[in-house]
Amino acid sequence: MFQKIVFATDFSDSAQRAYEKLKQIRTECNAQSVIIVSVIDEREIDSLANLEGFYSIQIEKLREEVTQELIKQTEAKIEKCKKELLELGFDVEVRIPVGIPYDEIVKIAEKEGAGLIVMGSHGKGILQELLIGSTSEKVLRRAKCPVLIVK
Ligand SMILES: Nc1ncnc2c1ncn2[C@@H]1O[C@H](COP(=O)(O)OP(=O)(O)OP(=O)(O)O)[C@@H](O)[C@H]1O
Ligand SMILES: [Mg+2]
Repeated sequence: MFQKIVFATDFSDSAQRAYEKLKQIRTECNAQSVIIVSVIDEREIDSLANLEGFYSIQIEKLREEVTQELIKQTEAKIEKCKKELLELGFDVEVRIPVGIPYDEIVKIAEKEGAGLIVMGSHGKGILQELLIGSTSEKVLRRAKCPVLIVK
């Protein structure tokens, strides 16, 4: 039913629970391929780069270095999950775009014609008392396909 699934992860506990659910539902869904998406949040790059006091020419370079480092770290974190999904027989693709998480997740799902998006209800944000986090909420509002939000 959902041949192509987008799995969005920020490596939080909630995203990990979503991942476990993804593995459980694969037979029922007859899913063949999974696109693992982990977005480098562009709003976090400047604070991580600690840009205060630098000249603009250095700032661009610092931003680029921080971005490349974050992509490298994310690739390493995704590796285990990618391997496991391949062993289960899925076709697996990995996407690590830089941008606003909900926007990138929705764009990839649409462009790839995904039938389902699987994600956690919360992430690494601090407002855990909210019903769902802002990424989940915005993906749910804007995606054209069904969204499975795992508690
Ligand atoms: N950068 C990201 N890339 C891919 N998926 C993400 C990203 N951020 C969040 N997600 C997905 O969205 C789920 C919910 O996270 P969300 O960001 O909505 O909650 P939060 O971090 O608790 O809240 P907020 O970000 O609003 O402070 C995560 O479990 C994960 O599946
Ligand atoms: Mg978040």
